[in-house]
Amino acid sequence: MTMTTTIAHRRSAELEELIGRDAAVFRILTGDRPTGRLHLGHYFGTLRNRVRLQDLGAEVFVLIADYQVLTDRDTAERLDEYVTGLLLDYLAIGLDPERTVIFAHSAVPALNQLLLPFLSLVSVPELSRNPTVKDEIAHSRQEAVSGLMLTYPVHQAADILFCKANLVPVGQDQLPHLEITRAIARRFNERFGLPVFPVPDALLSAAPLLLGTDGTKMSKSRGNTIPLSATADETARLIRGARTDAEPHISYDPAARPAVSSLVLLAALCLDRDPDEVAAEIGGGGAAGLKTVLTAAVNDLLAPIRARRAEYARDLGYVRQVLRDGNDRGARRAEYARDLGYVRQVLRDGNDRANEIAAVTLAEVQAAMGMRY
Ligand code: TRP
Repeated sequence: MTMTTTIAHRRSAELEELIGRDAAVFRILTGDRPTGRLHLGHYFGTLRNRVRLQDLGAEVFVLIADYQVLTDRDTAERLDEYVTGLLLDYLAIGLDPERTVIFAHSAVPALNQLLLPFLSLVSVPELSRNPTVKDEIAHSRQEAVSGLMLTYPVHQAADILFCKANLVPVGQDQLPHLEITRAIARRFNERFGLPVFPVPDALLSAAPLLLGTDGTKMSKSRGNTIPLSATADETARLIRGARTDAEPHISYDPAARPAVSSLVLLAALCLDRDPDEVAAEIGGGGAAGLKTVLTAAVNDLLAPIRARRAEYARDLGYVRQVLRDGNDRGARRAEYARDLGYVRQVLRDGNDRANEIAAVTLAEVQAAMGMRY
């Protein structure tokens, strides 16, 4: 663990105490890139924490970072499908659009315009030495590094600062981006002499890292995840195919037995129990016993989430079908086109709210910069 990470963990513990005292003082922003289906790693790493913070009374903004999809690829594939999937997952896990603003940053022009003054506040060497960006460049499937790859952390600062969020729940890989956001907030306030932006804190999740079903890092691009939207049968199949080891007795030993231990940990998280206890109980049941316990635990946890997801998906499917059929064109069709169904409306409303806030912030930024003509 690096020094910065240790400090970030310590600070996160302090922040948790403040949240416990009065969550309403926090405006929280976090988000996801729409590059695939959300999975159990997301659920335990960040999604359920968002619901917790919302329920404690914090003001939560959830961003669908669609422009950011283009950092490591030329085109954003299946955007509509993935964005819709994110919306369904958010609603199904319990994010409540009455309390939480869900929006896409492409739909908020004033947010994107903040990128220009923010870019003027960072140096090229500063952008080039960002360790997360360096890592992404090393793994990128593109031949040349695009300008967006180098500058997206500044765009991320716009995501966070447009709504003056003061708390950003993130994984460790996002800490360098948070540092850039904090520097931009400070530098803007100093350079233009007005306290326009708060300096936001990172809130590191306490959740341990889950491995995928192949025993390597769980990741959408590796095809080793258990998606929240998987059916019970699909889940059983994925777990049946999961990697284990030759040891017949199940134990929880992440260093020596990473693949098995990650499956034990996942079961323990689903059951809200201690992984050592879960492993001890399975014991001589071996890999088969572990997989039986895990499949039941995941499917029990996800059953109510899947039921809600299916309900929201029906709402979406109904409107789509009417539009596709188009058998009574004219008035009815126009009416349905306007009424996009609940799920789409959630995003429309979130976008509207984000636009209102972004317009106010941009006006303040331009005023501070002397752009009042
Ligand atoms: N970079 C984040 C990720 O890949 C997504 C993201 C975009 C984000 N803008 C953000 C996260 C602002 C937190 C705050 O997961």
